[in-house]
Amino acid sequence: MLRVGFLYSKIRQDEKLLLEEMRKRNLEIVKIDDKELNLSLEKQDFGIDILLERSVSHSRALYALKFFQSYGIPTINTFDVATVCGDKAYTSLALENHGIPTPKTRVAMTEESALQAMEELGWPCVIKPVTGSWARMCAKLNDKDAAEAVLEHKKVLGEYMHSIFYIQEYIEKPGRDIRAFVVGDETIAAIYRESEHWITNTSRGAIARNCEITEELNEICLKTAEAVGGGVLAMDVFEGKEGLMMNEVNYTMEFKNSVEPTGVDIPKKVIDYVVETARK
Ligand SMILES: Nc1ncnc2c1ncn2[C@@H]1O[C@H](COP(=O)(O)OP(=O)(O)O)[C@@H](O)[C@H]1O
Ligand SMILES: [Mg+2]
Repeated sequence: MLRVGFLYSKIRQDEKLLLEEMRKRNLEIVKIDDKELNLSLEKQDFGIDILLERSVSHSRALYALKFFQSYGIPTINTFDVATVCGDKAYTSLALENHGIPTPKTRVAMTEESALQAMEELGWPCVIKPVTGSWARMCAKLNDKDAAEAVLEHKKVLGEYMHSIFYIQEYIEKPGRDIRAFVVGDETIAAIYRESEHWITNTSRGAIARNCEITEELNEICLKTAEAVGGGVLAMDVFEGKEGLMMNEVNYTMEFKNSVEPTGVDIPKKVIDYVVETARK
């Protein structure tokens, strides 16, 4: 019987759906609470054949994946994929290097150079922490006054991760963006996230509706999966004036709001992939 390690911080609805799917198939589940990890350099025996990472903390996920990889246990996703996707600057570079359309982006190290970058990209622009999700601390800056205020707040109140300024051109969206799910070499489902706000995360109230997987969407998604190293990925795609643009890639994907509108059994697809990867 296949033994699946399930690394988690909290059992949210997404985790419940994955656990339910694994129970249906009689997989042996070894739940690993990331708060209880105490990883040694030498191999620890967790009694598992594969690890499915579902931590809500990027740093915990990253170190855990590194250690499990070093113990010789395959992980979903891999440490390399988490490294690239967990950092928006690394993701942007990977996209650019693979010729995938993405908003113009700058990375600056000081307030002064950040302002310079913003002036060059033009107003409005967007500033985001390089690591983070649920749109936390993403700001749309309409002019220089707003930019100066946000940069000063970051300097005075900020933590280390706010000392790197990730700045993007603002992309006008048609009241929505696209969230697409890729598992292995297949775009399994996609939703539109509709909102009147410029932020379209469903965690911020955007409405999820089914989005047809066109050839163009499938192509940018599969190219992106290849660019970041593949696995189980959730991608944010913008409908730009000149076609689709990849915004970011999430490596611990949340899908609970997307099962119903798409009619796709996302947890089933994920666990199929876990089983298939473990058997390789
Ligand atoms: N450059 C941009 N132009 C327009 N909207 C953006 C831009 N960057 C982010 N957004 C909006 O903000 C949301 C959150 O940004 P995102 O990069 O996805 O960060 P997070 O990892 O927090 O989800 C996106 O879903 C999108 O709606
Ligand atoms: Mg996002």
